[in-house]
Amino acid sequence: MLNEAQCARYQRDGYIVIPGFKSAAQVAAVRARAAQIVDQFDPGQGSSIFTTQDQATTTDAYFLGSDNTIRCFFEEEAFDAEGRLRQDKSLSINKIGHALHDLDPVFERFSRDPQLAAVARDLGLTDARVWQSMYIFKQPGIGGEVRWHQDATFFETTPISVTTFWFALEDATIENGCLWVEPGGHRGPLRERFVRSGADIKMEKLDATPWPDDSVAVPLEAAAGSLVCFHGLLPHYSAPNRSPVSRHAYTLHATDGRSAYSPHNWIQRDAGFPARGFD
Ligand code: FE2
Repeated sequence: MLNEAQCARYQRDGYIVIPGFKSAAQVAAVRARAAQIVDQFDPGQGSSIFTTQDQATTTDAYFLGSDNTIRCFFEEEAFDAEGRLRQDKSLSINKIGHALHDLDPVFERFSRDPQLAAVARDLGLTDARVWQSMYIFKQPGIGGEVRWHQDATFFETTPISVTTFWFALEDATIENGCLWVEPGGHRGPLRERFVRSGADIKMEKLDATPWPDDSVAVPLEAAAGSLVCFHGLLPHYSAPNRSPVSRHAYTLHATDGRSAYSPHNWIQRDAGFPARGFD
């Protein structure tokens, strides 16, 4: 699927952008399905970012319980001081996660196709295991910033194998909060590890290497339908969306089944619900 030049670029830079990977119809199908999921979502049921007591526990339990389900999460700035939505629910959701690819037929079709399986193989995932899917809205005006991080922080394997598949479902631009990456930064160390122990989660510092200066970051503007693939160690961030247009994207995170998946990763599967590949 990928030619030699693309593979070489991925090795060198830690990422590649493949324009036109998904058709307009495929993109439209998942966008419509996401809108339906949000429409059917009742914010009264436990998701509340605005609970007055025990907020951290409630939020964590809702988050941790989403590893093998489909749940909606609000933008941090979605609510006013009285806990009311500032704008319509459809414009207030930050993301849907984290098992859309296994539990929703529309997202499963989008997430599993021979071309994607071929790309994953070309990038070194001989025995891909897709652990997570996220539909990210990056809402107009309130879409939050995501600071520098490495996705391997959340998917530790030995050796490190996690690879991110990021689909632009709308044109991602500098204005609406596209990805920014440090080209070649995937050759640096893993800085942090997100560790789960039962109901507890914490971020562990592994390496003191500082995050790159924003001045070295390169924006990955990508037209709707593009696929961006990047290495789990590649430092990246996305700026807040202060523009009037949203920036929907869909992401998949996959590891290689030949590597050892850490029992401390927050997403775990049992034998009855194994992580599968792209086929
Ligand atoms: Fe990320």
